[in-house]
Amino acid sequence: MKLDTKMIHGGVFGDPHTGAVSVPIYQVSTYKQSKVGEHAGYEYSRTGNPTRDALEKLIADVENGARGLAFSSGMAAISTLLSYFSQGDHIIIGDDVYGGTYRVITKVFTRLGLEASFVDTGDINAVKKAIKPHTRAIYMETPSNPLLKVTDIKELSTLAKQAGLFLFVDNTFLTPYWQNPLDLGADAVLHSATKYLGGHSDVVAGLIVTKEEKFGEELHFLQNSIGGILGPQDSWLLIRGMKTLGLRMKQHELNAQQIAKWLQNHDQIGRVYYPGLADHPDHHTAKTQARGFGAIISFDVGSAEAADRLLEQTKYFTLAESLGAVESLISVPARMTHASIPAERRAELGIVDGLVRISVGVEDVEDLIADLDQAL
Ligand SMILES: Cc1ncc(COP(=O)(O)O)c(C=O)c1O
Repeated sequence: MKLDTKMIHGGVFGDPHTGAVSVPIYQVSTYKQSKVGEHAGYEYSRTGNPTRDALEKLIADVENGARGLAFSSGMAAISTLLSYFSQGDHIIIGDDVYGGTYRVITKVFTRLGLEASFVDTGDINAVKKAIKPHTRAIYMETPSNPLLKVTDIKELSTLAKQAGLFLFVDNTFLTPYWQNPLDLGADAVLHSATKYLGGHSDVVAGLIVTKEEKFGEELHFLQNSIGGILGPQDSWLLIRGMKTLGLRMKQHELNAQQIAKWLQNHDQIGRVYYPGLADHPDHHTAKTQARGFGAIISFDVGSAEAADRLLEQTKYFTLAESLGAVESLISVPARMTHASIPAERRAELGIVDGLVRISVGVEDVEDLIADLDQAL
């Protein structure tokens, strides 16, 4: 089955009982048992719910994995995954991961005894050097946020396998439509499904897909124990969003390519970060391991004041946190998504005050360029 077909027919299609072509919303918390312990497959909706199941099967299908799990947010998914580890374990994390991921590790999990080293996962030697006897996993985002650095997933998975480590990839920016980390050797792939998978700024959700059933089962135990599950209404919204993922991703990308080139030629803009540009340092890796480059672009306007002026003037680019929806969004990572990273650390990473990040939507690209042009 081709990917565009899988988006619509993958997982569970419709409802076999009524012929409805859309999966029903099972708005239910508990299920009748015919005898103690005998039931039709469901006991309690924290453990399993048919609508959530349909979503979990769909994401597992499109990520080419064994087991999908749906959570109440991307952070709930990430936190559940991290709770797999124990006091004294060490993990290696990409050095420009999403600010919330950085925060939960440095403020919560390290307090509970998990040790973490933040490393540029694009630098294989730096990752090798960071491995300790008690290292258990490497966790990365590619492309990363907000600097769009690309890590070679295959190269890192080879290293992880040699060292006996798990490899986890946050695939939020490219989605399974453009990139399948499990096919490149990752053990689990994660999503803030709040972004492209939902696609319409109307649901907060997280997903994990594991390569192996056994690890999926272990994570399901943690999901059920901790309880950060996705409700049936939001599961249904995600299934609906995912049906048009292909259409949206293609349009997002066409728009982003044009806007990135336009920004590059604008005299008020410094560096433009977009892996789809031929002169992006990771362009070749991006092209080799993914089918598309996505639609997140960061660029430097020189100062916080210049960024503020731009943000105040745009009409179609809405000033908001988040990304990946049909509507274009604009933000300043240093004071928004990445504010929880200390200022010195941000400076080291290159997340400067004048860095602006846009999530290019699916509006007409001429309107989007005209909007940026007038605002600049
Ligand atoms: C790459 C990435 N991963 C994870 C998250 C966290 O997801 P959520 O906001 O759904 O909890 C985000 C949120 O912006 C993100 O951008």
